[in-house]
Amino acid sequence: MLSIHNLSATVADKPILKGLSLSINAGEIHAIMGPNGAGKSTLGYTLGGRPGYEVTGGSVTFNDEDLLALAPHERAAAGLFLGFQYPVEIPGVSFVQFLREAANAQRKSLGQPPLTGGEFLKLAREKAGLLKMDMDMLKRPVNVGFSGGEKKRAEMVQMGILDPKLAILDETDSGLDIDALRIVGEGINAIMRKPDRAVLLITHYQRLLDYVKPDFVHVLAGGRIIRTGGAELALELESQGYEAVTA
Ligand SMILES: Nc1ncnc2c1ncn2[C@@H]1O[C@H](COP(=O)(O)OP(=O)(O)O)[C@@H](O)[C@H]1O
Ligand SMILES: [Mg+2]
Repeated sequence: MLSIHNLSATVADKPILKGLSLSINAGEIHAIMGPNGAGKSTLGYTLGGRPGYEVTGGSVTFNDEDLLALAPHERAAAGLFLGFQYPVEIPGVSFVQFLREAANAQRKSLGQPPLTGGEFLKLAREKAGLLKMDMDMLKRPVNVGFSGGEKKRAEMVQMGILDPKLAILDETDSGLDIDALRIVGEGINAIMRKPDRAVLLITHYQRLLDYVKPDFVHVLAGGRIIRTGGAELALELESQGYEAVTA
């Protein structure tokens, strides 16, 4: 599904990714762990096509397409979803409006007709239910006054509605209490753990991985994947720290 080959990227002229390679097949859940500043978020933003993240080498194919040749909105239309470490607030726009616009923009790019109000509400209710999110909450302006946990749950509702092929989730567990962590973890499983979907979880704690069990765990340090293992690698990192692995 996703094949990253020797990817190098700079942020503000500073080399951050330095020849990173990684392959993700349909049906797989991968976790990337690594110390602060290792380049984890940079990888997510670079794959999402965020301005300011400049690719200086290597290639990325996504479902046999050259991902790097696509504009950010085309990447989303192709089925890529990026969950942000710090979700943005959009005063004046309600979450339901936002979700409906997002869903219909996505459908338009796929040549599908927009959802009717009723169809959209049914879909939104279903996905909000998966995340134990009250519909009243989604009538509020996007993320304004939401707690950290509510922002992440709302973001997972958005993911459910967009129904991406590949979700890259950056620190989706940050700021979550134990209950929210379980709800978000179960939501990710319900939406994304399917034979034709894949997930790349970026995290520096192993706790989300208790709920969303990764098939592969990678350690990112110095701009490259320096080690790959199974779910047990996350436990090893948790008990021994990154230094034992990156030294
Ligand atoms: N806009 C920016 N300008 C300059 N340096 C940046 C910028 N964004 C990120 N960096 C630097 O890039 C490096 C990698 O950051 P990041 O990808 O956020 O790491 P991680 O997510 O692994 O903690 C860090 O050294 C960070 O300071
Ligand atoms: Mg980060």
